[in-house]
This record gives sequence, C-alpha cells and structure tokens, in this order.
Amino acid sequence: MQYGYFDDQNREYVITRPDTPLPWINYLGCQAYFGIISNTAGGYSFYRDARLRRVTRYRYNNVPFDLGGRYIYLRDDGSGEFWSPSWQPTRHELEDYSCRHGMGYSVIGSKYKGIEGRTRYFVPLDENLEIWQLSVTNHRPTPAALSVFSSIEFCLWDAQDDATNFQRNFSIGQVEIEEGVIYHKTEYRERRDHFAYFACSDALAGFDTQREAFVGPYRGWDRPVAVERGESSNSVAYGWAPIGSHHVELALQPGETRQIVFVLGYHENPVEEKFDPPGSQIVSKKTVKPVIAKYLDPANADAAFAALRAYWDSLLGVCQVETPDLHTDRMVNIWNAYQCMATFNMSRSASFYESGIGRGLGFRDSNQDLLGFVQMVPSRARERILDLAATQLPSGGAYHQYQPLTKRGNNDVGSNFNDDPHWLIVGVAAYLKETGDWSILDEPVPYDNEPGSEQPLYEHLQRSFHYTLERLGPHGLPLIGRADWNDCLNLNCFSDTPGQSFQTTTNKEGKVAESVFIAALFVLAGKELAAIARQRGLEDEAKQYLAEAVKMDEVVHAYGWDGEWFVRAYDDFGRKVGSRECEEGKIFIETQGFCVLAGIGLEDGLAKRALESVVEHLATPHGIVLQQPAYSRYYLELGEISSYPPGYKENAGIFCHNNPWVMIAETLVGNGDRAHDYYARINPSAREAISDLHRCEPYVYSQMIAGRDAPTHGEAKNSWLTGTAAWNYYAITQWILGIRPAYDGLEIAPVIPKSWPGFKTTRKFRGVTYRITVDRAGDGNAVALTVDGAPIPGHTVPPPADGRTEVSVEVTLS
Ligand code: GLC
Ligand code: GLC
Repeated sequence: MQYGYFDDQNREYVITRPDTPLPWINYLGCQAYFGIISNTAGGYSFYRDARLRRVTRYRYNNVPFDLGGRYIYLRDDGSGEFWSPSWQPTRHELEDYSCRHGMGYSVIGSKYKGIEGRTRYFVPLDENLEIWQLSVTNHRPTPAALSVFSSIEFCLWDAQDDATNFQRNFSIGQVEIEEGVIYHKTEYRERRDHFAYFACSDALAGFDTQREAFVGPYRGWDRPVAVERGESSNSVAYGWAPIGSHHVELALQPGETRQIVFVLGYHENPVEEKFDPPGSQIVSKKTVKPVIAKYLDPANADAAFAALRAYWDSLLGVCQVETPDLHTDRMVNIWNAYQCMATFNMSRSASFYESGIGRGLGFRDSNQDLLGFVQMVPSRARERILDLAATQLPSGGAYHQYQPLTKRGNNDVGSNFNDDPHWLIVGVAAYLKETGDWSILDEPVPYDNEPGSEQPLYEHLQRSFHYTLERLGPHGLPLIGRADWNDCLNLNCFSDTPGQSFQTTTNKEGKVAESVFIAALFVLAGKELAAIARQRGLEDEAKQYLAEAVKMDEVVHAYGWDGEWFVRAYDDFGRKVGSRECEEGKIFIETQGFCVLAGIGLEDGLAKRALESVVEHLATPHGIVLQQPAYSRYYLELGEISSYPPGYKENAGIFCHNNPWVMIAETLVGNGDRAHDYYARINPSAREAISDLHRCEPYVYSQMIAGRDAPTHGEAKNSWLTGTAAWNYYAITQWILGIRPAYDGLEIAPVIPKSWPGFKTTRKFRGVTYRITVDRAGDGNAVALTVDGAPIPGHTVPPPADGRTEVSVEVTLS
C-alpha cells in the first residue's frame, strides 16, 4: 500500500494522505539554518547546532508521535469552525490534502468546505531564516470571512536545558513585540547576542506570545482557545512558555486568493551593538529589520525560492543517470544525492529519531558521509575534513564525536574507537580523487584544536595509519578498543550495571580483543595512503604502506579466515567472534563486505567464497542481515550487540549501512547481477509499494530494516541520518555504474546486470562535463572506450588536454 507517489519531474514526493505510518519528514535549509518538517507541518528549527541553538521547541516521543511544529489555523468566522490545512494539530477531516516534499522545501495544504490553504515552507540560500508562504483561496460561490492564526513555540536555546531545567526556565522567557514582529529574546539581557523573530506580511488583528493565553488552560494545540474564540489576546510573555502567534483577518471574494508571508528567523548582533538605544534593554533591530522587510515581500520570497530550485538543479546536475531501472534513476538523480546533503549537514544529530541533544557529529560518520557528498560542494567537504582533522589527537586517535558549534571534540564520549582514524584517510582520498586539490594536504591543522600543534594535514594521515601499527593484538590484528565500525561490539566493556554506556565503559585492559574489520579497513587505508604518497613523489613511503597492507592481508588470511567466511573479531578471552565455532553470531556481514572491498582474497577465491556465504546465511528479500544466528541472550563479553532483541539494530537487523559494502564486493568479483539485486532490495523507492510494512519514508534510506529474526521483518526504522546514504550512492554510481573519479582521470568500469542493454550518464568532474553512453555487446565487464570518436586504451578517460569542457565517451562492455 502507498501513501503518495513520486513526482520525478518536479523532484518531489507527494504524500496524499496525512496519516502516514510514521511522520514522513523533510529538511529545510542546507547551510547554517535548518528545519525538520513532517508531512503534517510538525518539527522544529535550529541554527547550526540542534542542541545549543534550538530556535523552536519540539517534544520527542510525543503522543501522537509528531506534535508541535509550524502550525497554521484557518477559522471560518461565519460558522466558528476551525481547522489546520496541514491536518495536524486539529486532525480535522480535509479534502485534497497533499504534502509535496521537494529539494529543501515542503508544500503542505488542503481544502475544507471550499476554502483552500497551502503553505510553502523553505529556507532561502545564505539566510538564517525560514519563509512560510501561505495561500488561501475561496472556492465558494459566496464571500468568506476568515481568520488565520500562525503558531510556533520558542525553545529557550539549549534544547537539553530547555527540556529539564524548569525551575529556572519558567522565569526567564522574554519577548518584544514591535510593528507586529514578535522577537524572542530570552537570555539576550546577559550572555547571548542572538535572538529569534517571527514576522507576518499582513496587518495584524492581534497576536499572542504566552502559550497559556493562546492555547488556554487544560487545552492542547488541537483546540487553542484563541482560535476557537476567533481572537488573540495580545499576550506578552514574562517567563513560562514564549510562543509566536499572529492573527490576520481575511475577507475573500468567490475565487479570490490571498497570500500571507510569515518569516521566522535567527539573528545575531555585534556585542557592542546589542541594545538600541545603547544602555537600554531593548534589542537593536537595525540590522534585522531590512532582512525581515525583504522577505515579507512575496516577490522577494518567490525569487529566493527560484534561487533555491536553481541551486539544487546545479547540485544534482553533477551526476545524472538514465538506466533501465526507474528506482535506480530516481534515487541517484534525486533522492539519494539529496539525502547525502542531509547526512553531511546533520551527521547523526537531528532527525525524528535523533533528538539533536544526544550526539554531535561523528568522526567516522562524517568522514564516510564525504563519499556521497564531495562531488556536490567540494569546498564544504574541504572545510569539514579540516575541522575533523583538527579534533584528531596527537596519538593519531580521534574523538568519536565533535560539537558542530564549538568544533571541539566531545569529552563525554572520548576516543579509543580504533577504526576512527582510518576513516580520515578514506575521506581525504575521496576528496582528492574528486577535486585534484592537493593543496589540502599542506594545510596546517592542529591536534585536539591545540594552538601551536599545527602540522600539515598529510601528517595527520600518517599518524592515523601508525595509530594501528602501535595497537596490534596477540594475532597481529588491530586491537578493537571501545568498538570499531560496529558501535555495539564492545569487547572490552563487560558491563553488568544497568544504564552504563556500552561505548564508554571499559572494564578490560584492551590488550586482547582484536578486530578483523579494522584489519580490512587498515588494508584499504594503507592502499589509499600509498597512492597519495606516490602522487606526492614519496615512493619509498608508499612502498612501506603497501608492505604493511600486505602484511595485514596475510594476518587476515592466517587468523581471520574461518573456512567459509571471514571471522569478525577476537574477544577478550582470545576466542573468535563470528565463526562456526560460536554458538550464535557465527557469521557477520562487515568482514565479508569490507575484506573484499579492501581486496583481500580476490586472488585466491576467498572473496568469492565469503560472498557465497553471505547468500547462504545473511541475505533476505529485505536486505542482508548483520549476523546470524541472532544473539538470543545477553553476552557479557560482547556488549551492546547482544542487548538488542533478535532481528533489531546490530543484533541481526538489516543494518543498511553495510549492505553496500557487499554490493561493492560483488562488483569486485564481477557479479553485477547480484550487486544490483542487493541494491534493489533496500532501495526505498523500490520498497514504496510495501509502505505499510516498511513504514518509513519511501524516498530516503533508513538506518535499519528489521531482520528475519524480528516479528516485524521488513519494517524500517531511523530514517534519514545514516551512512547508508553515502555508501549506497557511492556503490551505485562508482562501482555498479562504475563511473569513478581517479587521480589521473575519470575511470569507467561498470559492473551492471547482464540483462541491462546499457545506460547513459552525465558526470561533471573537475570542470568538465562527460556525456557517457554505455552499450552492452557481451555478457562480461570488459571495457572498450571511445573518447570524442577516438578509441583509447585502458578504462580511464584522461582530462582533456586542450581545455575542452564537454567530452563524449562511448563505452562498450563485452
Ligand atoms: C550508527 C553509527 C555509526 C556506527 C553504526 C554501527 O550508524 O552512527 O557510527 O558505525 O551505527 O554501529
Ligand atoms: C550506534 C548504534 C546504536 C548505539 C549507538 C551508540 O548508533 O546503532 O545501537 O546505541 O551507536 O553510540
């Protein structure tokens, strides 16, 4: 069953009934000011950091799930009836409801008794504000007297404190109302030099800024007393819960449409110019007023919207494909790329499943996010790499997370996740291949943000690599530390105390438990670093890295092979994890995918054997599960992985993030049918028809789909913020379709299904547009290239020598 449809022409998903199985959300903003918006206008906004600069309040895990947002109420002043055109929070019956989620905007609206109300929500480029453009149309044969009420609830900035520290917070709320604009200035009198504002383009019949005055005692957002009565009370908030609500009266003739623009924003003043007049306690509005005035003008709002559309056209224009598979095209051309922007911006911090107060940006997460983002805005990828590297520790290790606002490592979570440093090498390699910007390696970057400790970025990569060489275990495999990619494999934790964090509790010395996964990652990182060193003319150094990679490959062969698949790890007793010797958890996906991806076992058949084992033991119609058999009980020596009920999350769920590792591995052994089949199983668009089972949005990947041991096998959870976005984008574009940025040009090595006659793609790469046509002439994956009519050897298209910016490439596969 479906709850909407894809409008690929407009790059939108159109939701046609409001009661989706879960809130189906979108992101507004892609630079500094962000909002999350659900299909019923729920959600919240923040500036840069979802915890520390929360602009509007949101209550997670609410009943119903999604309540609180950017709500508009329409009231028929003739009958007194009122409703919300976005369905929530009144949940009134509606006609023609639709929510169009597009690239950085959402349009939500409906009709009721001949009155249509639709709102376009978006964040203009380069501004710290959001625009709500409401259109109200009277389709009745008679004039209509209507009231419009807007509403938002301000957050007192620090979302964590806001949700807990009521004894203080009920007394600090402050607002100003000037010329119909509501200014939220809590804590502005002391250490904040920022405030929020909420403005309306129309003359107001009234306003409210105190929640209780608007909503009424013992009432909720579904039945605010001001809306019921048809009159605001012009309340001024002193403490308690500051809100913003405007009341506008409209008289519409039959067929008439009126537009009202609301602007909600965040603004900072220089510390010396906070107050106007100086010495007063009144917020200076000198610099904000022109911004507000600009966007309250519908013509300017329309122009900003057009600029946003054009921006996304250009971002998505970097890579467009035309394949025989609709779901592939839709995800690559639109939604997967779009999701890569969201994961790059948010990391894992703010979605409907990440509360924005729990986590900063993950070190490994953000580095992997680069794989799907770097081609869109390389300058921002560059900045992110330098920020990440600046949180690296002198040991080469890394803080597991950092706060986006302060750009500092998060001490509460700390370091010692022994895979972390290698992801920096993977991320930097992706950046270099895409851009050819070698200057980044010479950028001075501090360790742990300590002034004076700056070293070239290249040295950070060297330290990342050496970090593991200094931390090898009894078999010569890398010690795992607190966890590797699998945050829930906590082999040094041994926690028997409820509530202890599995990630930060370490009860063991950590000198025994080893990770075969990190070994594979080390091999990959070693090869990448060797290639980088070679490009820098450091031939000897390159040889050393390769020698270390070869040595580790041998160790994996000696101690990481279980007969039919790769072992996952060794625990603190030196016993295998992910082996036929185990009672449960005999085979894990991570090492099957990643060892092959790193090239281990490609030559001697181990890779193929391991991938057969994936088919035999892990693959399901809904994707590949993380391990089998699921852990049926808690294992003290394994940690969080066995804390989850079977089939969920890391305990044998389909953890979508690592499925593309197997897809890439399949391309490396030449099996395009299987690679694409795995791709299709978790492709959200391909799962649209089973939306009542899948439940999450059909236009973006979710972190997890319940595995075969779960009673709800096939049910997705934790949509949007997941490494799945970047890895799937990378797997389909660079390995299955096989269009790969390389140091010496654009490499072309498709490994596509046998049944495909070919495909077309346009790829912009280092300032050149490559128009590529792939035709299948035989069953294999051998590539013959013709560039602008002339055959060339090999499978890499070199950059055009003569400054041409358009190149056409014909590819024959046989
Ligand atoms: C989450 C984390 C990621 C981790 C994965 C597996 O997605 O963000 O860092 O690798 O879970 O545990
Ligand atoms: C990852 C895991 C999750 C775990 C968390 C801890 O996100 O998926 O299960 O609780 O890491 O950081």
